[in-house]
Amino acid sequence: MHLTLRLLLGCLAVALSGCERDVAATTVRTTQPVAAKAFYETAFERKPDAAGLEALGRKLFSDPSLSVSGRQSCASCHSPAHAYGPPNALSVQPGGAEMTDQGQRAAPSLMYRQGTPPFSEHFNDTDGDDGADQGPTGGRTWDGRVSSVHEQAALPLLSPLEMGNADPAAVVAHLRASPSAAAFLAAFGERVLDDVPKAWNGLLWALEVFQQSPADFYPYSSKYDAFLRHQTTLSPQEERGLALFNDPRKGNCAQCHPSAIKRGTFPLFTDEGLLALGVPRNRQIAANRDPAWFDMGLCGPMRTDLKTHTEYCGAFKTPSLRNAARRRSFFHNGVFHSLEDVVRFYAQRDSNPERFYPAGADGHVERFDDLPAAFRGNVVSDPPFGRQPGRGAALSEKNVADLVAFLKTLNDGYLAPTTQLSRAAPGN
Ligand code: HEC
Ligand code: HEC
Repeated sequence: MHLTLRLLLGCLAVALSGCERDVAATTVRTTQPVAAKAFYETAFERKPDAAGLEALGRKLFSDPSLSVSGRQSCASCHSPAHAYGPPNALSVQPGGAEMTDQGQRAAPSLMYRQGTPPFSEHFNDTDGDDGADQGPTGGRTWDGRVSSVHEQAALPLLSPLEMGNADPAAVVAHLRASPSAAAFLAAFGERVLDDVPKAWNGLLWALEVFQQSPADFYPYSSKYDAFLRHQTTLSPQEERGLALFNDPRKGNCAQCHPSAIKRGTFPLFTDEGLLALGVPRNRQIAANRDPAWFDMGLCGPMRTDLKTHTEYCGAFKTPSLRNAARRRSFFHNGVFHSLEDVVRFYAQRDSNPERFYPAGADGHVERFDDLPAAFRGNVVSDPPFGRQPGRGAALSEKNVADLVAFLKTLNDGYLAPTTQLSRAAPGN
């Protein structure tokens, strides 16, 4: 289907959800910082239109020949059939030249990322409740260190633990020999693959435009969206889950994962903040075999600009909960494998820490064991956390089941029209 028509239909389906911005996002953005401006000003022999770039990006996204192993594409870790998240229950995905290396973080879903603001240490939502400093907010990846989608695409292509290329020239060499080469030349011009910087920018650009496709990445086709549009009702159990989700004295989930329409925009279930929840150490991650190694998110070691800010150690990005019920590994280190266990962690982390953390040499439960002791005070204790041991869990097992039932209403694919729309997308 023609892109403009698809966008238009997407707008109808999205109704109140800020469609104008979405349409603008599929074309070249003009308000980027200088480096990004230079990126978008790359002079190609041919100028592909948005629909052409999207179709090319879709092809490249699933092309394993861009990896050194020849076996890994973006889609291997961000599977289109799994809400652009991992296709399996592994905490972290394999990669590298022989596919025997292991990543250090769970692959996030790439859906509903279109509104991610650039990282800011002191976020001020001027239209918000009180305009107060909300602390570290925004940016891409679990620690917010990347500001644009095209910058992001460079990371896995060049990471020795992922697609494993030494440099952009190596990627372009793979591209020249790949099944995507003909489409790439058709889009940018016959000589583009002889010019590494140009070809590299073209590759990242096409991947970016594909990830801005509304039908694939933000269809707003969940049962909850239909409920917000008064097209359906929730079951009694889902209703109870929603109430617990929103109740500041019970789940309090909406404090960080907002669930209401705001300024005409449907909720993304993330406030984009970066916080330390004290998620347990995942001993399945090879890097964690070294007891002195810690992935501390905002303060490093993967992110390097805030390493002296120890008050940020342990903080990770609040993910969107849309389609979370389709995942089989949760949190930045993929330590939990069911939504029930995630919600139990919220309900019982402080009332029953022994269920989540190992006992130290002296028999004491070592709370927040994935952070060096000096930084454990950074961990948040807002409700539902903050219960004293022995005072009972913040949420009962019935509450947990109700919350999980509600979270399942956030899976896309409930609304038939939008589903048909995404099936009609080219190359699907
Ligand atoms: C081996 C698995 C793997 C492969 C292959 C992979 N990714 Fe990722 N992706 C990840 C992980 C893990 C993260 C989180 C990284 C972090 O927090 O440092 C991530 C994060 C991202 C994000 C940031 C999401 C956000 O908003 O926070 C984007 C965008 C992304 N990947 C796009 C891509 C693209 C495009 C490709 C192909 C060029 C790709 N990925 C290939 C595992 C992978
Ligand atoms: C104080 C802010 C805060 C509150 C309250 C909160 N969350 Fe979260 N949530 C986060 C952050 C931050 C993360 C990521 C933490 C990490 O990976 O280290 C997260 C991650 C998650 C994830 C994992 C998603 C994924 O893709 O891996 C789920 C599911 C989740 N939260 C559900 C809930 C539910 C249900 C509630 C209410 C019972 C809740 N959250 C309350 C901040 C919060």
